[in-house]
Amino acid sequence: MTSEFPHTPPRKSYTFSDAANAEIRRAAASGIYDIRGGGTKRYLPHFDDLLFLGASISRYPLEGYREKCSTDVWLGTRFAKNPIHLDIPVTIAGMSFGALSGPAKEALGRGASAAGTSTTTGDGGMTEEERGHSKTLVYQYLPSRYGMNPDDLRRADAIEVVVGQGAKPGGGGMLLGQKISDRVAMMRNLPKGIDQRSACRHPDWTGPDDLEIKILELREITDWEKPIYVKIGGARPYYDTALAVKAGADVVVLDGMQGGTAATQDVFIEHVGQPILACIPLAVKALQDLGMHRKVQLIVSGGIRTGADVAKAMALGADAVAIGTAALVALGDNDPVFEAEYQKLGTTAGAYDDWHEGKDPAGITTQDPELYNRFDPVLGGRRLKNYLKVMTLEAQTIARACGKNHLHNLEPEDLCALTMEAAAMARVPLAGTDWYPGKNGF
Ligand SMILES: Cc1cc2nc3c(=O)[nH]c(=O)nc-3n(C[C@H](O)[C@H](O)[C@H](O)COP(=O)(O)O)c2cc1C
Repeated sequence: MTSEFPHTPPRKSYTFSDAANAEIRRAAASGIYDIRGGGTKRYLPHFDDLLFLGASISRYPLEGYREKCSTDVWLGTRFAKNPIHLDIPVTIAGMSFGALSGPAKEALGRGASAAGTSTTTGDGGMTEEERGHSKTLVYQYLPSRYGMNPDDLRRADAIEVVVGQGAKPGGGGMLLGQKISDRVAMMRNLPKGIDQRSACRHPDWTGPDDLEIKILELREITDWEKPIYVKIGGARPYYDTALAVKAGADVVVLDGMQGGTAATQDVFIEHVGQPILACIPLAVKALQDLGMHRKVQLIVSGGIRTGADVAKAMALGADAVAIGTAALVALGDNDPVFEAEYQKLGTTAGAYDDWHEGKDPAGITTQDPELYNRFDPVLGGRRLKNYLKVMTLEAQTIARACGKNHLHNLEPEDLCALTMEAAAMARVPLAGTDWYPGKNGF
């Protein structure tokens, strides 16, 4: 029966949004879950929700053109005979050869070395492109053992035992058959063209005591020379940091939920883990409770894009940060110059995340020679160096404005939070107050 009154306008459900319905239809049509690269795409509390207070009368700023603000960092000072000294506290995170092309690895090495920082291998082992162009190279020791080689352990400057990643704590990665070229297959000792899943846990340990034994083994193989990092995803950062320290780590690498990945299930990226903002204070608390803050260094990652992000992470207590996605963007990933080709792949610049398919028009996340030969590693390295330099200058500008003569002197007291969530997670006061949720038990 029609009513004499106007109809209620059509309303779409917030819960069953267009995106949610499209995913239901995609799943119904294909019968497989969505796999993609990159980090979480939903809104999460992040560094943007914090602000620096800056100096005025009660704090005295430093003069940019005359007064020094240092940016260097030592990593691995606890046990290693040869700790690492970097000019800047922004490092390049582990990204696998396989996910990335050889020329992309070379560009990471070139850019990082020119900027005075380190690069990191990844699942799939050490390439000559990266070793040859990286002044300081961290070698990942992963659950998968893909590309693991004891000689390469000795050729590295530090070793990173990967327990987990922020994009998928508790899970393993994927490298689909399209990207398993002859070379990738040879390095991983697995068949060409067949999908590979990386293990979610190390095959030879079942808990923290085994981690301690493994770290001792790695120290012996490398004659106690190299710093040993332990990388954890942002799951239970207080206990995981404490256990890594107990197991003998020189450095803890903490990767929050925003952290990128080469490829895994979308449901994992979007629904497992904790934002990096929530993880840092818990890891710092664990280090402080053990009397190890600044003795065991903390590197944090997950969605870091600017010098402001770097400065905020350091003000919360990190010694350094690592970047993955931002480094790829600096090299040329998702650049609008490739828009016509992104459109052919059914996507658009800024949204391209099918890195597992190996069709990257920028030649970065591919093993197809036609595509990766488009990428110029010298130019890519220069772009990365410029970007790292800008991030460092930005962080220094902020530190000076807070009256600090070293980035490490930034502290939570320099910050305020814009939202209740950020205040609660970062444990810094809500703007305009001296309070954050949880302070004094309230
Ligand atoms: C293309 C790509 C490949 C990656 N491969 C690895 C890997 O092999 N091992 C690992 O521990 N993490 C890997 N990661 C995660 C990064 O090391 C790092 O934790 C993450 O990228 C940090 O977050 P961000 O991308 O927001 O900077 C990868 C990330 C990307 C984007």
